[in-house]
Amino acid sequence: MIKISHMSKIYSTKGGSVTALDNVSLNIGKGELVAIVGQSGSGKSTLMNILGCLSTPTAGRYTLSGQDVHNLSFDERSLLRRDKIGFIFQGFNLLPKMSAIENVALPLMCAKVSYDERVRRAKDALCRVGLERRLNHKPHEMSGGQQQRVAIARALISNPHLILADEPTGNLDSSSGDEVLRLLIEANKAGHTVILITHDEKIARRTDRKICISDGRIISDINQ
Ligand SMILES: Nc1ncnc2c1ncn2[C@@H]1O[C@H](COP(=O)(O)OP(=O)(O)OP(=O)(O)O)[C@@H](O)[C@H]1O
Ligand SMILES: [Mg+2]
Repeated sequence: MIKISHMSKIYSTKGGSVTALDNVSLNIGKGELVAIVGQSGSGKSTLMNILGCLSTPTAGRYTLSGQDVHNLSFDERSLLRRDKIGFIFQGFNLLPKMSAIENVALPLMCAKVSYDERVRRAKDALCRVGLERRLNHKPHEMSGGQQQRVAIARALISNPHLILADEPTGNLDSSSGDEVLRLLIEANKAGHTVILITHDEKIARRTDRKICISDGRIISDINQ
């Protein structure tokens, strides 16, 4: 499903250039549950942003579900993101003035689904993550763990092939973190490919495959 070959990403800044990814090659199959680990600054988010078509590599090739991402226009990449990828971030990234239902329904708005259908599916998704009693709450009226569950519901609503989670438990206590991980594992069992960045060795251990990045290179790739 994911094929990356000889990929590099070099950021140019006033202070000089930074090689964030250095000749990375990687294949990830449909239905895998993968953890990406590595020290701060090792290139994990850079890799995730490229996988999510949020940024483009300086060199190398990325094929997602048979599509060569390099050849797509900006708009085509946006469509690919909308239809095939769900994102979960450490800081939840919910819209503060919107309710849980509205936040979750947002990806469907761009996909031109009718209002009634959007609300029905958003309620459904929120029930699946155990938030049936928080449908109309705004983010600031919910705990961090609940906000992250809203973000998971939002990531799942368009039934994407690929779920990318960048430190999804980074801002959570261990029991909320466990719940978030449980939901991601459940999503994986339901057929979604899940790629998860984490600093937490305990979380990485519960995935099927652990890829370790150091200084922009893959230094180990273990099936566990
Ligand atoms: N937009 C940018 N411009 C310049 N340099 C960047 C940019 N984004 C990241 N970098 C640099 O690229 C390297 C990799 O950064 P990245 O964010 O991918 O690390 P990370 O592994 O996600 O770290 P963390 O665990 O702290 O989130 C770092 O040295 C960082 O300083
Ligand atoms: Mg990061």
